Amino acid sequence: MIVLVIGGGGREHAIVRKLKESKKIDHIYCAPGNGGIAKDAECVDIKATDLVRMLAFAKEHAVDFAVVAPDDPLVLGMVDAFEAAGIRTFGPDKKAAEIEGSKVFSKNLMKKYQIPTADYAVFDDPADVLRYIREKDQYPTVIKADGLALGKGVVIAQNLEEAEAAVHSIMEDKIFGASGNKVVVEEFLTGPEVSVLAFTDGNCIKPMISSMDHKRVFDGNLGPNTGGMGTIAPNPFYTEADAQVCMEKIFLPTIRAMKSEGRTFKGCLYFGLMLTPQGPKVIEYNCRFGDPETQVVLPLLKTDLFEIFEAIYENRLEELSIEWRDGAAACVVMASGGYPKKYITGLPITGLNPDGQLDGVTVYHAGTKLADDGGMQTAGGRVLGVTAVGADLPEALERAYAGVARIDFTAAHYRHDIGTAYHR
Ligand code: AMP
Ligand code: GLY
Repeated sequence: MIVLVIGGGGREHAIVRKLKESKKIDHIYCAPGNGGIAKDAECVDIKATDLVRMLAFAKEHAVDFAVVAPDDPLVLGMVDAFEAAGIRTFGPDKKAAEIEGSKVFSKNLMKKYQIPTADYAVFDDPADVLRYIREKDQYPTVIKADGLALGKGVVIAQNLEEAEAAVHSIMEDKIFGASGNKVVVEEFLTGPEVSVLAFTDGNCIKPMISSMDHKRVFDGNLGPNTGGMGTIAPNPFYTEADAQVCMEKIFLPTIRAMKSEGRTFKGCLYFGLMLTPQGPKVIEYNCRFGDPETQVVLPLLKTDLFEIFEAIYENRLEELSIEWRDGAAACVVMASGGYPKKYITGLPITGLNPDGQLDGVTVYHAGTKLADDGGMQTAGGRVLGVTAVGADLPEALERAYAGVARIDFTAAHYRHDIGTAYHR
């Protein structure tokens, strides 16, 4: 079996390393991959959004099964293109990926099917948005660009000036391009945040172990939002009772809603939830594995990931029993100095073994490349996700941080408080 994983970050490294455990797979390609992934798979220099070249490569190299991991190729319809060419693929098709591709679509879906979420209104005219926000006069208020915005399309405005600035940059300056043609204005919710990734074939849904992301760049949840500075799994706030409520009121209703709309969702559906005083509510859906959630969830998976992918493809997820390890996992992201704003790349990374790993932890590479001398260099904002599993969360965290202490590159920075429960 020849498998192609599309993408090139820490999430894709975690997927590749898990797939490597499968006895069914003979060879793994990853496009574009990165320096660390190159130690585990054959990397191919094709951009994740280059549908034409990706498909041509897959045909030429007799790829049997493709895994489309990032949001943008999914929203562009890469799964549709592969399947039209007869290549079995993991991921939602273009119509189903709309659940992440358009916030207006996902909010309207939740409203129509009574799935709990923040109250909202949709606008396509900047003057109307500001009139609405002025009339409501309730802060903070949440303003979201409709389309994909590299995880940066959400503004929590504390007052009218901030709301005006957000509307101006999203709808008039178009800092996210056409993604800002429409905006959603939402009620501000409070409570601990939980990420639940779920396997689904469109009829059956099997949630994975819950996790918690840390989106802000600095300790104490300060500073701007990032793609995620670290994760833990399971999420200590998410109880068995929450899981039951979510299954009944959110998970099943969502896949049924998608099916009713003629947009059957197959793949990994990501539920970004908030445990509000009124119960769990959906903050956002993603049409893919989360990053860096995947880095803590997959190490706890006992079942062969490839068998799950095949079962989803063949619509027989229901029959499969998915097993998880006891214990916990923690991932600490080491980022380039300056991230999520300006940073430099090409800095040598010290402390790693020649295989890009380190004893006692798993190092998922997010932004690295192999230098000409064979050493590892930084190549992105988020550089490494240093991950460990333990009998419990404190043990996993201690191991992950022990790994971080042995790795270095100039101006490396990371959060020291991943997994500490000040969030409540
Ligand atoms: P997103 O890019 O949709 O994940 O949103 C980024 C972050 O903004 C979320 O992780 C939440 O912390 C926050 N957020 C989004 N929507 C709301 C809301 N309605 N109320 C409070 N916080 C929110
Ligand atoms: N960690 C958040 C995301 O993957 O969107």
